[in-house]
Amino acid sequence: MAENLLKGKLGIITGALDENSIAWKAALKAHEQGAKFVLTNAPIAMRMGAIKELADHCKTIVIPADATSLEDIEKLYSESKEYLGGNFDFLLHSIGMSPNIRKGRSYGDLNYDWMNKSYDVSAISFHKMMHVAEKMDVLNEWSSIVGLSYIAAQRVYPFYTDMADAKALLESIARGYGYRLGKMKKVRVNTISQSPTKTTAGTGIGGFDAFFNFADKMSPLGNASAEACADYIITLFSDLTRFVTMQNLFHDGGYSTTGISEELMEQFKDL
Ligand code: NAI
Repeated sequence: MAENLLKGKLGIITGALDENSIAWKAALKAHEQGAKFVLTNAPIAMRMGAIKELADHCKTIVIPADATSLEDIEKLYSESKEYLGGNFDFLLHSIGMSPNIRKGRSYGDLNYDWMNKSYDVSAISFHKMMHVAEKMDVLNEWSSIVGLSYIAAQRVYPFYTDMADAKALLESIARGYGYRLGKMKKVRVNTISQSPTKTTAGTGIGGFDAFFNFADKMSPLGNASAEACADYIITLFSDLTRFVTMQNLFHDGGYSTTGISEELMEQFKDL
């Protein structure tokens, strides 16, 4: 494994809730690769406590911030800048939550206040993080911003309900801000469209086990794990991907371009 890909780089990692979180694995890898960063999560997630262990391991601090609050993001950036001693080279947005999914509401029966909440938490917070970063001028040239998406942004997965629309918005924001920050400061912005992954956010989706197993059988390489996703995130934060921007990058073992696999055909042949 290459070493020190992120040596000297400073950043912020959102969304590490527990050891299954994609952001948790990304933090471990970023630390291994020589980055210095601040961890953050919503104040409510912080009360669950696990993130402190991660911070100790990564020799850093945790600054609570609700990613839907502009004031919280401002405070997060100013305190992180002070702690890290400079502007940022990377930001990871690894945040998603839908009250409609939590409460089991179907696509035809969504609560619209909750739908707005899903968009705000899962997509508009990405816009807010970049908006505040631009206003406070806290990004270094050639820095890299990554958000996490899912293929339900392009294709229908009925149980993904309003999160599908939130992901479509997230990917669109990556393009919009990718253009803007690219022109302004050579900053790149991408989303990674990840395989189904067994995390708190993932397993909260109705029918998760079925579409996890389906995707695993469909993908020639099998589902990509959270750890493999973290590896990919590190490459996007490194200087080896400086001209990749405004992309939605599938990290899914080949799922998105496979029509059908032999394993799945086998299951349908005698129907
Ligand atoms: P997770 O549940 O470990 O992480 C989601 C995080 O969002 C949690 O740490 C939670 O505290 C945080 N969060 C929720 N509301 C927040 C707020 N208002 N402010 C700040 N943080 C807030 O689950 P996972 O899977 O690691 O999720 C990370 C990202 O990956 C999400 O965007 C998710 O949609 C995406 N993703 C997950 C997949 C999966 O199957 N698990 C597949 C594709 C994408």
